[in-house]
Amino acid sequence: MSTILTWFGHATLGLQTSGFHLLIDPFFKGNPAAAQSPGDLPADFILITHGHGDHVGDTVEIATGTKALVISNYEIASWLAKKGLKTHGQHLGGGFQHPFGYLKLTFALHGSALPDGSYGGNPAGLLLTTLDGQKIYFAGDTGLFGDMALIGEEGIDLAVLPIGDNFTMGPVDALRAVKLLQPRLVVPIHYNTFDLIRQDPAAWAERVQSETSSRAVLLKPGESLNL
Ligand code: NI
Ligand code: MN
Repeated sequence: MSTILTWFGHATLGLQTSGFHLLIDPFFKGNPAAAQSPGDLPADFILITHGHGDHVGDTVEIATGTKALVISNYEIASWLAKKGLKTHGQHLGGGFQHPFGYLKLTFALHGSALPDGSYGGNPAGLLLTTLDGQKIYFAGDTGLFGDMALIGEEGIDLAVLPIGDNFTMGPVDALRAVKLLQPRLVVPIHYNTFDLIRQDPAAWAERVQSETSSRAVLLKPGESLNL
């Protein structure tokens, strides 16, 4: 059984694993990096890291159309349930065995207000153990924090980290994150969507290659990585 990660630009990701289609932080409309429209992609599950508009994105439209189950923290799940979506609320430190794997919400150092100003609880990262035992860590929007070392202790196959700076870790702190997490592979996201988060991913990947034992994989929007 294979797992395929696709980056749609910004923090929008697709994951195909054990036959299930997952979307993570599905932000297509208003995302200058995304070539797809919200209706283009199949989704069985939608995972949301935090309440900001560039992460909740087009969840309501996509989940209404696909009937996908939306998984997020309890506050965001409740907010989306009031809009008629099927939801599953979890919270930081809590894991649950879903059909596609075991998903745990992890700490993230960020904000989480929802687009209408509602309280969105605490922001989260996502730690997924696929059905064939691969561990994928989606940091979400976050600054660097030392407890990434604890997440790294689980043995990470793939880490997906923001490198854009300004709103999240920049390249320097993201490199320190790689050293704490020690993933086999790392994919940078949340950069070059807007001028405020413009970065040079190739220069960053070179530093990962030379200063850590992890391998950085650069995707262009729409490209996939077969795990
Ligand atoms: Ni954010
Ligand atoms: Mn963001």
